[in-house]
Amino acid sequence: MGKKILLEHLNVPGINTLDVYRQKGGYSSVEKALKTMTPAEVVEEVKKSGLRGRGGAGFPTGLKWSFLFKPEGVERYLVCNADESEPGTFKDRFLMEKIPHSLIEGMITSSFALGAKTSYIYIRGEYFYVARILEKAIDEAYAAGLLGKNILGTDFSHDCYVQIGAGAYICGEETALLESLEGKRGNPRIKPPFPAIAGLYGCPTVVNNVETIAAVSSIINMGGEEYAKIGIGRSTGTKLISASGHINKPGTFEIELGLPVEEFIYSEEYCGGIVNGNKLKAVVPGGSSVPILPAHLILKTEKGEPRLMSYESLSDGGFVSGSMLGSGGFIVYDETTSIVKNLYTFARFYHHESCGQCSPCREGTGWMEKILHRIINGHGKASDIELLWDIQRKIEGNTICPLGDAAAWPVASAIRHFRSEFEEYINHPEKIKDVKHYFNLHQLTT
Ligand SMILES: Cc1cc2nc3c(=O)[nH]c(=O)nc-3n(C[C@H](O)[C@H](O)[C@H](O)COP(=O)(O)O)c2cc1C
Repeated sequence: MGKKILLEHLNVPGINTLDVYRQKGGYSSVEKALKTMTPAEVVEEVKKSGLRGRGGAGFPTGLKWSFLFKPEGVERYLVCNADESEPGTFKDRFLMEKIPHSLIEGMITSSFALGAKTSYIYIRGEYFYVARILEKAIDEAYAAGLLGKNILGTDFSHDCYVQIGAGAYICGEETALLESLEGKRGNPRIKPPFPAIAGLYGCPTVVNNVETIAAVSSIINMGGEEYAKIGIGRSTGTKLISASGHINKPGTFEIELGLPVEEFIYSEEYCGGIVNGNKLKAVVPGGSSVPILPAHLILKTEKGEPRLMSYESLSDGGFVSGSMLGSGGFIVYDETTSIVKNLYTFARFYHHESCGQCSPCREGTGWMEKILHRIINGHGKASDIELLWDIQRKIEGNTICPLGDAAAWPVASAIRHFRSEFEEYINHPEKIKDVKHYFNLHQLTT
């Protein structure tokens, strides 16, 4: 069995309640941090752990925390990003639903490190029932003196609130999230200034993903150096992966970073192999925004080395032959999948979710959707592949936030690795009806 940290007590009956969570050692990081450490020491342990943000970009958490501007008398905030709208990603929901106190514990310990008297958990609208679970956990924590005034008899006081979003993917982008939290339309802000300098209500703010914050508790309990021994290279610790698609055991798994991709797909402990014994065709390893890789490149790098579930290994080869660990939304496609039809569903999603502030994204995502729509309906033109390529190039890097890149990369990688499939659709539209399987977004998030 692989190392488990976040999900170690997943199968303990009643682990969603405060009593059972505490019996299993829960909230010991709060005790340790508040009673025996200074905030700077907590930040130092997180730095030593090598923890990288689990929301997608993989930015080192301790470093991000150390950027926080700390002028005297100015409020600071910790905001937890529980928006989780990336197609193929459902690991935060799983953690919050099953072990809600692991997030609340991380919120308190992290807020202590940052000197934040108030924190917010911004959760996507569709996770309404999970918000209720979190609110119940927060009530239990207040009743036990783990939240509120003078936590556990110390000088540290803290309030934590849950805020439900209205179901917009863009509100997962941290500055759009802050706008939404302030009650405005969720449009990404121009950076700089970054949230660490001017975030929520113009105050210094740290935005972290659910899994990142939950991992902080284990780091404080075991020590940063011990945590850094788990994993591989600069990919330390464990990672939650949401696995979906043509696999025998879809679900959320905790893996030690560095696990070979092949083992993740085929072993009984994780995905259990491809459905019906079919052949693997391709994988999107980190949520819909990251490049798709064909079977030979997801199992091995271009250098012939086994591909590992780590930040470095998955991006080995850049975007020519690599991809990204991203949010850990691991989508597996078997040989029956139409890459072009699948790409169309992604393109539709990004067009729908673009906030419309930047013209390359607002217009370009719509054009890509339109072109893909005509290709899959048998009306593609010979020039469409070049046109798609050209549009995605003009979106990438030319927008305020990375939603534009996220819309461009799937298109670029699908053309790069599956060009012949586009050509087949354009040159032989009569064959399109034979293509049976493609995913819709609903299948990827349930
Ligand atoms: C369009 C878009 C959607 C995003 N959605 C999420 C999300 O749902 N959850 C998340 O944690 N990060 C999301 N991010 C990344 C956040 O902007 C931010 O990098 C992250 O919350 C930082 O937390 P971390 O350092 O702990 O990963 C998104 C980014 C973009 C551009």
